[in-house]
Amino acid sequence: MSKPENVNNISKTEDDIQLIKKDLESSINLTKFYKTHYTLLFIHSPFAVFFVDPTGIILDCNDKSSTYYMMQKPELMGTSIHNLIAFPMKEFSKEMFLELRSKESIEYEFQYIRKDGEAIEIHRKAYPVKNDEGKIVEILCFDENITNKKRNEELLKLRSRALEVAANSIVITNNRGDVVWVNPAFTELSGYNFDEIVYKNIRILKSGKHDNKFYKNLWDTVRKGKVWHGNITNRRKDGSEWCEEQTITPVMNLENEIEYFISIKQDITERIIAEEEAKIQNEQLMQADKMIALGTLVSGVAHEINNPNNFIMLNTPILKKIWAAVIPILDNYYDEHGDFYAGGKLRYSKIRKSLPEILQGIEDGSERIKKIVEELKNFARKESSETDQKVDVNKVVNAAINLIVNIIKSSTKNFSVSFGENLPPVKGNFQKLEQVVINLLENSCQALQNNSKQISVKTYFEEVDHCVVIEVKDEGVGMDPEIIKEITDPFYTTKRDIGGTGLGLSVSSKIVSAHSGKLKFESVLNEGTAAKILLPAATQKNYEEKNNG
Ligand SMILES: Nc1ncnc2c1ncn2[C@@H]1O[C@H](COP(=O)(O)OP(=O)(O)OP(=O)(O)O)[C@@H](O)[C@H]1O
Ligand SMILES: [Mg+2]
Repeated sequence: MSKPENVNNISKTEDDIQLIKKDLESSINLTKFYKTHYTLLFIHSPFAVFFVDPTGIILDCNDKSSTYYMMQKPELMGTSIHNLIAFPMKEFSKEMFLELRSKESIEYEFQYIRKDGEAIEIHRKAYPVKNDEGKIVEILCFDENITNKKRNEELLKLRSRALEVAANSIVITNNRGDVVWVNPAFTELSGYNFDEIVYKNIRILKSGKHDNKFYKNLWDTVRKGKVWHGNITNRRKDGSEWCEEQTITPVMNLENEIEYFISIKQDITERIIAEEEAKIQNEQLMQADKMIALGTLVSGVAHEINNPNNFIMLNTPILKKIWAAVIPILDNYYDEHGDFYAGGKLRYSKIRKSLPEILQGIEDGSERIKKIVEELKNFARKESSETDQKVDVNKVVNAAINLIVNIIKSSTKNFSVSFGENLPPVKGNFQKLEQVVINLLENSCQALQNNSKQISVKTYFEEVDHCVVIEVKDEGVGMDPEIIKEITDPFYTTKRDIGGTGLGLSVSSKIVSAHSGKLKFESVLNEGTAAKILLPAATQKNYEEKNNG
């Protein structure tokens, strides 16, 4: 009974052996398979791979380790992996290894100074290799050289920081002009914070100062991949404007298509203002230069005209007297002989009537020449040194009114004066200031359309500017704002037909400037004009200083 059992047993054992053999073969094959793969992985790994014991002694390593650490494999074997690290990271590395008792893996970074002196940055990831009892028998380390990665990261950080802190405003848009990024200098300049501007189209900044042609040229340039450079006025969030010098550079992608535009802006508002001021000053200087030349010319011409005009002025009344004396004689002759020719084809009967008018015309004309010449001389005259008088403005106004009271009376029935009380004196020249007030009063009288319109004169002290003001206000024809700009130009007049020379206000404004004052006009067409002379009040201190100094 046992034999067959035995037979069975034997045959079973043979089967088993076959099975075991098969298993063994396949497991040998598997081991071979894994071994080959692991060896390949070990050799070709992009990392330095170490097998170390739990204390860190290197048991095996790949060729990459030699390259990384610039040490031959035999040199590395048996060394502590922690010794590759400089203090204090060496201690840290040891502590990290202890953490593997409770962790699946650990990772940390450190610096290694190679034999050639170059410092390399290493990122290490380590895994515990445990036996069946769960005890760590080996540790597997993968070291990656992250020097270049770190350098690039640092460089990127530096670049992005540089853009952040740049004093110039920087805006990056996509190729449609939608804002992608702006730096703080831009948010400060524009008043838009980052979230308000990002994803918005850059046209949000348009000020309306440039026409479509300007923007077309800009976009045409950058869309061709070229750099655009120019000045542009933009609008802030609060509506105010700024002027900037801008450079827009297209940024291409790998396919050579434009992906972004980088615009670097420099606020040049102040520079533009300064340039404009310099231009105005230059124009003023040129104007002043012209005025000096004109002044010299005028003095000469005035002298040349005055002499012959004096003959006319002196002799015309004599002629008038002579004419009056000879008329009765000529009348007698006319009565006896009838009409006769007295000057070429002119008959006596005609001359008798028109000659007095002709003589009167000559007299008026020469009177007018005298007036113009006097005003020209006033205009051209260099400032007299007598501008240090302590002048009571109320007295100036009073004297001026008295001088032209007849003109005022014939122009208006509504004339009023209001003298400010306790006005401080001003420093200057009484007669000259009187001349200014007369000019203003004359202009007001001439501006009235009828005598029911009003003229009022007022003096007062203005605290803010610390100045004394003489105001001459009328209900006359008024002026267009465009005209006001020109009225102090010499010879500007709208009254040439009634004898205006256009010198009144240019002389006046020159006098007021010489008093460090201002001459201002406010006017509404068909309603009236208010002219103000603002003169700095002479404080006791500056007056004494001037007189003593
Ligand atoms: N109060 C005013 N109302 C309206 N227009 C005025 C007034 N004052 C001045 N103007 C304008 O300013 C111009 C220049 O004035 P300005 O006193 O310099 O010369 P004018 O009065 O024309 O001649 P004149 O040399 O005889 O004074 C005037 O012709 C007039 O058009
Ligand atoms: Mg005038």
